[in-house]
Amino acid sequence: MKKIGVFTSGGDSPGMNAALRAVVRAAVYYDLEVVGIYRGFEGMIDKDFEPLSARSVNHILPRGGTILKSARCPAFMEKAGRLQAYDNLRSEGIDAVVAIGGDGTFTGAMIFEEEFGLPMIGIPGTIDNDLYGTDYTLGFDTANNTAMEAIDKIRDTARSHNRLFFVEVMGRDSGFIAAHTGVATGAVAIVVPEREMSVDELGEILERSKSHHKSSSIVVVAEGGRTGGATALAEKIKSRYPEYDTKVTILGHLQRGGSPTLNDRLLASKLGLAAVEGLRDGKSSAMVGLINNKVVYTPFKDAISDKLRLDKEWLRIADILST
Ligand code: F6P
Repeated sequence: MKKIGVFTSGGDSPGMNAALRAVVRAAVYYDLEVVGIYRGFEGMIDKDFEPLSARSVNHILPRGGTILKSARCPAFMEKAGRLQAYDNLRSEGIDAVVAIGGDGTFTGAMIFEEEFGLPMIGIPGTIDNDLYGTDYTLGFDTANNTAMEAIDKIRDTARSHNRLFFVEVMGRDSGFIAAHTGVATGAVAIVVPEREMSVDELGEILERSKSHHKSSSIVVVAEGGRTGGATALAEKIKSRYPEYDTKVTILGHLQRGGSPTLNDRLLASKLGLAAVEGLRDGKSSAMVGLINNKVVYTPFKDAISDKLRLDKEWLRIADILST
């Protein structure tokens, strides 16, 4: 192996740049050439490549987003697109690739390696924390801190006006961000896809908290919640309890930006180095992750199919402490 490619793909997440830096610096350390592939699979198909040196990644460690840009690429789902991508990688002399992204990225990488035999290693970069084979994904900690700070601010105004706020956080179909930020901000209730909560049950929680003299409350709602997100849930509660002064805040893409936290920078540095060392050791079609602080390589097929399950203990803690 003489030359590796690296790309970021799917939804960006804080820490992707730090991981890119680690991959490039580790490759240079091991005398490998590195090529940056812009816009994920799209740039692979368009041959949007640039050689990267140790100096190309100066000062990107604390920066949010991804300097390689990111995209979701329908053309890569077609065999013709993947063949074009393979031809481009081979003509550039790329022997192996590091993919930084989430489940969609790893699905593409897995199929690509199966078809063309080009080794691929993945680094989990998504705020959703929904991959099996790592305790945490890159960006999850930063997104949680961003959401926590935002909810703390909403709390100030909620308290001043005795209001009930429904705050929607990201996570696609997983409730990790909701569960963690809900506990960290003292939410009265947390609504996540992993646990059924009817409008009646939520209503009972709100009524109980009112009877405990709470004058303002925050309900943290995961965007993939079964009740249809914060807006739908707030409307249902409002029609049943018109006396509540109800407001909705959707935090949205705010959660995807910002400088990565210390934890995300450490994770990115460790996994970036481990990705390059894994390729040198002959590992491929696998995601590198950290479990109990140990580097672990999990086959792509397991990382994407066996989702990391939310630790329901967080919900129990929130239920008890929010009374
Ligand atoms: O996967 C990361 C994520 O931010 C999800 O939490 C969210 O559902 C989705 O991406 C949003 O995607 P997009 O940026 O394409 O709207």
